Amino acid sequence: MPTHVAIIMDGNGRWAAQRGLPRFEGHRRGVEAIRRAVRSAGDLGIRYLTVYSFSAENWRRPAQEVSDLMGLLKRFVRHDLADLHANNIRVRVIGEREGLASDIRLLLDEAEQLTRLNTGLTLVIAFNYGGRQEIARAMRELAREAKEGTLDPDTIDAAMIESRLDTHGIPDPDLVIRTSGEQRVSNFLTWQTAYSEFVFIPDFWPDFDDATFRAAIDEYFKRERRFGGLSARAV
Ligand code: IPE
Ligand code: IPE
Ligand code: MG
Repeated sequence: MPTHVAIIMDGNGRWAAQRGLPRFEGHRRGVEAIRRAVRSAGDLGIRYLTVYSFSAENWRRPAQEVSDLMGLLKRFVRHDLADLHANNIRVRVIGEREGLASDIRLLLDEAEQLTRLNTGLTLVIAFNYGGRQEIARAMRELAREAKEGTLDPDTIDAAMIESRLDTHGIPDPDLVIRTSGEQRVSNFLTWQTAYSEFVFIPDFWPDFDDATFRAAIDEYFKRERRFGGLSARAV
C-alpha cells in the first residue's frame, strides 16, 4: 500500500454545470466525496491522506465562491471533527494561516490540537496552500536564522529545507491522484512530489468513491518506482 496518498480534488464546478446546478452544489457534494475518501483510506490501511481543498490561487475566484468555500470548510470542521477524533484520525493543516479569517484559524487550530495524539490515519488538509509559497516561507525562515548567525548557510541541505516545510514529519506522497481529467499539478506539494507517482482520473471529484480510489491504487501497483536507480530487472 502507498503510505501517503495526496488528492487534487478537481471538477466540482463542472460536475454541477453538467447537471444545471450552481457551482456551490458541486462543492457541497465534494465534501461528501472527502468523507468517502477518508473512510476508504482508513479501510485500505493508508497512513496519510492529503486533500487539496483551497489553493493559494483560488482567491482569484469570484468573492461569492471564495466565501462559499470558506463556509464549507468551517462546516466540515464543525460537523466532522468529533467523528474524525472518534475514529482516531489525526488532522494536520498545511498552507498559509495568515490571511485567513480568525474564526477559520481557530477551527483549524482546534482540529489539530484535539486530534494531535491520535494514531490512525493522518488527514492532511491543504488549505490556502501553494507549494511555491510554502517553499518561500521556509526560505525566509532559514535566511532569517542565517542573518541572525544561528545557521551556517553551508549546512543547508534538502533535509533541512524539508524540516521547515509545513509537511515536516509527513513522508512524501507515494501517489498523487487528480480527478476531472486535468493533467497538471497546480502548485500542489511542489517540493514533496519529486518522486511521486501521478494518476489522473477523468471523473469529477463529487463522483469519487471507493471503487475509484481502489482503481487508482491498482494503477499505482503497476508502476515501477526507480528513484533514479535501475529497475529490479536490470540489476
Ligand atoms: C475543485 O473543483 C474545488 C476547488 C478548486 C476548490 P473546481 O471548483 O476547481 O471545479 P472545476 O475545475 O471548475 O470544475
Ligand atoms: C486545484 O484546482 C486546487 C484545488 C483542487 C483546491 P484548480 O481548479 O484551482 O486548478 P486549475 O486552476 O484548474 O489549475
Ligand atoms: Mg478546477
